[in-house]
Parts: sequence; C-alpha cells; structure tokens
Amino acid sequence: MKILLFGKGGQVGWELQRSLAPLGDLVALDFDSTEFHADFSLPDALAATVMAVRPDVVVNAAAHTAVDKAEGEPELARALNATSPGVVAAAARQVGALMVHYSTDYVFDGSGERPWKEIDATGPLSVYGRTKLEGEQLVAAAGPRHLIFRTSWVYAARGGNFAKTMLRLAKERDRLTVIDDQFGAPTGAELLADVTAHAIRDTLRAPDKAGLYHLVAGGVTSWHGYARFVLEQAAAAGTALRAGPDAVDPVPTSAFPTPAARPANSRLDTAKLQQAFGLRLPEWQLGVGRMLREVL
Ligand SMILES: NC(=O)c1ccc[n+]([C@@H]2O[C@H](COP(=O)([O-])OP(=O)(O)OC[C@H]3O[C@@H](n4cnc5c(N)ncnc54)[C@H](OP(=O)(O)O)[C@@H]3O)[C@@H](O)[C@H]2O)c1
Repeated sequence: MKILLFGKGGQVGWELQRSLAPLGDLVALDFDSTEFHADFSLPDALAATVMAVRPDVVVNAAAHTAVDKAEGEPELARALNATSPGVVAAAARQVGALMVHYSTDYVFDGSGERPWKEIDATGPLSVYGRTKLEGEQLVAAAGPRHLIFRTSWVYAARGGNFAKTMLRLAKERDRLTVIDDQFGAPTGAELLADVTAHAIRDTLRAPDKAGLYHLVAGGVTSWHGYARFVLEQAAAAGTALRAGPDAVDPVPTSAFPTPAARPANSRLDTAKLQQAFGLRLPEWQLGVGRMLREVL
C-alpha cells in the first residue's frame, strides 16, 4: 500500500509519519518539499503530485491553523483550508485513493451545552471555521471515498502548546488568569494519528465506513480546568512554580478580546466513531498527563 501525506511537519502530520509508517510506503511532504509540489497556497499544481505518486490513501494534515491571523488573510486561509483540499480530493478520486482530511469544532457556532453530533447544523464564527467547513464540503463533493475527522484543542509534545505556555507563565508569575467559559476536550496529535491509522485499515476493508466523524479525547473541560490540571501535575512532579493550581483565576472570554470569535461549546459527540471503528477514546487527562511527563 502507498500513502501520500501532506503537512508532514505539523502537530498531527508529525505523529502521522509515525503511525502511518507500518501501513506501507509513505511519501510524506511539506509545503517546501522539492521532489513533489505540496504547497497548498498554490492549489492547481497539487493534482499533479497526487497523479505522480498514485497513492492508495491520501492523508491531508496541512492547514491554515492560525485562527486570528486568518481573519486578516481570508484568501490564503481559503486556499489552504478549502480550495487545495478540494483539488487533492478530486485527484484522489481520479486515482481511486481513499482521502483522509481533518476539520474542526470551529465549524459550529458554539451555542448550547450538548456535544455536537455530525448531523448537527454548522454555523462557523470565523474565517478559519468558514474555510474549514468549505474544505469539508469540497472534499465530499469531489467524490473520493473519504474520512473527515473533526477534532478540537489539538496539542503535541513537539513545538509550543497551551500546557507549555501555562507552565512557563506559572514559573514567571504569582497568579494566572484563564478563560473558563469555553468547553472542549484537549486532544493529542498522537491519539489523532493512531485512530487515523486504525480507521484507514478498517475503511479499506469495509468502504461503507467512509464518512464524517467527530474525533476528540473523552471528557470535557474549560481552558481554566485544563490549566489547573497542568499545574497540579507539574506540582505533583516536583516542578517549582510561583503560581500553583489554586492561583489560576477564572475569567470570561471577554477578558481576552481576539480578532476571531471562538465557540463557547466545542464539545463533540464521538459515539459514531467509537461505534463504527470499535474504538475507545481515552479521557483527555491521560494524553495530557503523558505529554507533561515528556516535557517536565
Ligand atoms: N490545532 C488545533 O487546535 C486544531 C483544532 C481542530 C482541528 N485542527 C485541524 O487538525 C489538522 C492538523 O492541525 P495541526 O494542529 O497539526 O496544525 P499545524 O501544526 O498548524 O500543522 C499544519 C501544517 O500545515 C503546514 N502548512 C502551512 N502552510 C502550508 C502551505 N502553504 N502548504 C502546505 N502546508 C502548509 C504547516 O507547515 P509549517 O508548520 O511549516 O507552517 C504544518 O505542517 C488541521 O486540519 C486543523 O485544521 C486543529
């Protein structure tokens, strides 16, 4: 089996390089790859890459993920998040490949408290959310067999992340203020990559499993709860902190104005995925705890 991976250097792309490697020959590309064109800001040339590699599976982890920056560069965000995935999907259909793509909780308007199901109405609040939703639609409309995974609050041990920022601030300051009115599940790039590999194998054997799925770790928290958990773990591991877990003050979203609006309710219902693939999604604390043991 041959797998073509776009966005190999991102949080999820990096872990996919690990989880997809045992499945077959992996051609992993980034926007500056020289062997094949893989720059999503130039959509038209991407079809030639898919045609040249002729993969059995295309996995797209490339995206414009800078949510606030996207408000000021909607054309670039649209090229990366919508037009290019659509072009890749059309080429995947032509070569008969399964296409795997990632989307986001930001396709929803964040109302209510119920976890969103795949069939719920979307209502993105930002350029990022709108372009990611258009990407989902273009991938599906292009007609390849596909898996689209909507996820949320992605972190990885590699590179910067929310937990590392909280640890740094807790060493520098006596108190922290963190938003407590947005709810979701921190989801590790490792978990996304592992589930992706399982789902690819299953879908190649049972093509009717193709479709749109919500994929996040179990449980729910706020950014405030997430920050407290990080500092509790750090304190338990003996890390010297100026601000401990009780020095994290909850504040509303309005305390930190940002160019892009964020959904308050980012809870995603993962029952469809767990049933279809016979998988269990561990609680978010498990993955965050593992990541912390790597970085502390
Ligand atoms: N991060 C989150 O919290 C989150 C939440 C929900 C859904 N998602 C979705 O999950 C997927 C993976 O996200 P992630 O967290 O792994 O994002 P990421 O770390 O920002 O990775 C995105 C990748 O796209 C690459 N890229 C940037 N510009 C490109 C271009 N012009 N052409 C080709 N590639 C380009 C980046 O390269 P450079 O690093 O070199 O710029 C990086 O490798 C995305 O579809 C994202 O929308 C993410």
